[in-house]
Order: sequence, then structure tokens, then C-alpha cells
Amino acid sequence: MKIAINTGGGDAPGLNAAIRSATLSAIRRGWDVVGIRNGYGSLFTEEPFIPLTAEKVHGITMDGGTILGTANRGNPFEMPYQKEDGSWDLEDRSDEAVEVFKLNNIDALVAIGGDGSMRIANRFSKKGIPVVGVPKTIDNDIWGCEISLGFDTAVSTATEAIDKITTTAESHRRIMVVEVMGRYAGWIALHSGLSASADVILIPEIEFSLDSIAKKILEKEEKGETYSIVVVAEGSKEVDGENFVKGKVLGQSEQLGGVAEYLEKKLSEMTGKESRSIVLGHLQRGGTPSTSDRLISLRFGAAAIRAIAEKDFNKMIVMQQNEIRRIPLSDVADKMKLVPLDGDTILTAREIGICLGD
Ligand code: F6P
Repeated sequence: MKIAINTGGGDAPGLNAAIRSATLSAIRRGWDVVGIRNGYGSLFTEEPFIPLTAEKVHGITMDGGTILGTANRGNPFEMPYQKEDGSWDLEDRSDEAVEVFKLNNIDALVAIGGDGSMRIANRFSKKGIPVVGVPKTIDNDIWGCEISLGFDTAVSTATEAIDKITTTAESHRRIMVVEVMGRYAGWIALHSGLSASADVILIPEIEFSLDSIAKKILEKEEKGETYSIVVVAEGSKEVDGENFVKGKVLGQSEQLGGVAEYLEKKLSEMTGKESRSIVLGHLQRGGTPSTSDRLISLRFGAAAIRAIAEKDFNKMIVMQQNEIRRIPLSDVADKMKLVPLDGDTILTAREIGICLGD
């Protein structure tokens, strides 16, 4: 038996723990393990695989990033190529990728990634590649999985950063707008904003009104609370507005960003207060995984190998009620897990007086 492990999409703390766990569990069953170098794009290069041994994965549980490398591009089903007239288009090279797996005697694939990677995994499974998915993303937006690996660490990093921003906001009596990641879901913003006692939390699931945010800030001012912390998810939109998009490259998802800068300017104009914005950005993806992320990742990695051993393919490993379960990859592809507006975390925010922008 020979398996390949891929890490795809943005990196997240805990990836190395999952790689280690999957590798060791497979080796203990007498299997061979390889990792795909820098994501699927390398399947079309001369050296797509990195042999994974016990020595190679020794001591990496606590390391951020991925020893395999990853990429937000290189989807074999949508590879960019340059046409004769110089323009660019996408082509499906998945049959070549399947051929590379076959030529290298890969019996099964462990696809560690986010929603995009699960979509690719599902498409590979339809082409006859036995796949098991492992949910990874700091955004925590993978459908069917209560918590994905990387989320806990990212929230802690964002919370700690907002704590630090709060002391300078207070000293300068300013509005500080903090933009966090999360794509089209507000999990990081809601969890870090609530934990760091933000005054305003804006998430993509609730379109915001500038009037409502300004009102909250001015109400605080009247009570003598002269600073305000606004935490905004990068995918948040104003009522009837559009997403703030920084750019789009062919074969990659659109790059979100800019909402904090917009709010900084608007809120300053509307309240007469000095305002600053900060984008936490990739800081949230870095660093040592938390204990919780290490454990989830180790459990996910071993569970993926267990599924392969049982020949239970084309499934994604999930955490549900703190239990490891498997759900069909086809159920996950093309869906997103958004913050439920009637969930108790949102209710808690409202009940303690946090403005959610509506
Ligand atoms: O999906 C993880 C994520 O970090 C998002 O929160 C963010 O929008 C995106 O990746 C950023 O990707 P990149 O590394 O391409 O800037």
C-alpha cells in the first residue's frame, strides 16, 4: 500500500501535526507514504513527491506551516495556460494528474485542505482516485465539520492582537478598526471579537449599516468611554454593498481586503473621532498550533489512515460533538458553513451589548 498526502490552499497551524500523524499511522501499518510537494501543481513537474518517513516527520507537531509546502493555485481541473495570442485561460489537466498517481503506484490520497481542496478531492474521487479528506482552514467554514484544524490558533492570535490594540486605542481615545480573515464567513471575527471585548463585530453573514456603528461609538462617548474597537471580517459588506476585493488572479480565488480602511475613514467622518485601521492578515495563519489544534490535527491524520485501512473512501473526516466521524465528500463540495444567526454565540454578543452592525 502506498499513499500520498497533499496540503492545499492557505496554510494553517496544525498541518504538520496532521502530516505526522497520518505518516506514522500509515508506516505502522507497513505502508509507504509520500507527500505532494507544494500542492497539486507540482504533479506536472519532474519531482512531485517527497518521501515521508518517521525521521522526516519527527518533532514537527508544534511547528506552524506545512513541511510539504502548499499553494492557493494549481487546481489540476483548472490550470491557467497562456494562449498563442498571449492571453490566459484555464484547462483541465486532471487526467494527467491521475496518470501521475497511477505511474507512481499511489493507492490512496489524503487531501488536507479547505473547501476548494475538498471540491478537488471530490472530483478526483469521481475519476477513480480513492480519497479521504481532512478539513483544514483558519476560516472554519467547511460544511459538516464543527471545527477545522487551524481555527483555534488563528482565533487566539487574533484575540491577543486585539487585546494589544485595545490598550493603544484607549491611550489615544481612538476608534481602532481591526480586519481579520475568514473569507465569506465570520467565525474568526465573531470568536476573537467576543473574546477580546470588541464594541462592534462585523461579519459577512450580517450586512452592516454605518449609522448603526457610528451610533454605538457615540453612545459610548456619551458614557465617557472614549475609545472603540471595531472587529471586521474581511468578507463583510455594507447593506446592499459589494465585497471589498483587492484583486483576482486567473485560477485563484478573489483576494479580499480593504473594508477596515473604508470603515476607518467613514467612521472618523461620522463621529468626529480619530480613527486607525489595521489588517491582521497572514499573521493569523502563522505560529505554533494551540494544544487544541495539535490534538485535532493528530486525531484527523490518524482517522484518515483508519478510513483508508477500512477502504471507506471518498469521505471527509469531521469533528462532530467532539467525536471523529466521516461524511461523504460529495456532501461537502460546493457548500459553506456560515455563522448561524440564531446560534448562542451571536445571541451572547447581542445580549452583552456588542453592536453587530445591523
Ligand atoms: O482561506 C484562508 C485564508 O487565510 C483566508 O482567510 C484569506 O482570505 C485567504 O486565505 C488569503 O489567501 P492568500 O494566502 O492567497 O493571501
